[in-house]
Amino acid sequence: MHNLTIDGAGTYEVEEGTRLVRALEECGVAVGHRCGGQAHCTTCRVEFEEGEPQVMTEAEYDKLTDIGQFGEMRLACQIVVDRDMNVSPLMTVEDQGWDDAGPDPAVTVEPAAEWFPIEELEDT
Ligand code: FES
Repeated sequence: MHNLTIDGAGTYEVEEGTRLVRALEECGVAVGHRCGGQAHCTTCRVEFEEGEPQVMTEAEYDKLTDIGQFGEMRLACQIVVDRDMNVSPLMTVEDQGWDDAGPDPAVTVEPAAEWFPIEELEDT
């Protein structure tokens, strides 16, 4: 188990390997996942205060570079909880006025994930 601290919501114990977007919802935070966790919509965006993984999926890298946000935020649907983390969700049902957060993200990271060290991605 790892401690997940969510800005404005508290600290919760989360099972190792839980997709971060699902962990946030399980902790009662209605973070967006409007594409169902496919690295398309960016509504699951978070800022890390501590515990940011230094690896990234190719899908996350491609999306963040597409929108000019690489290095500025992370996509919770592309991250699994594998350590203590402290994050701020940036788009929620409440602050966006959506009817719901979006289709449920699968248990495992999609598209099928291959993680790369961020320092290698920065050089590409
Ligand atoms: S990018 Fe859509 S849920 Fe993460």
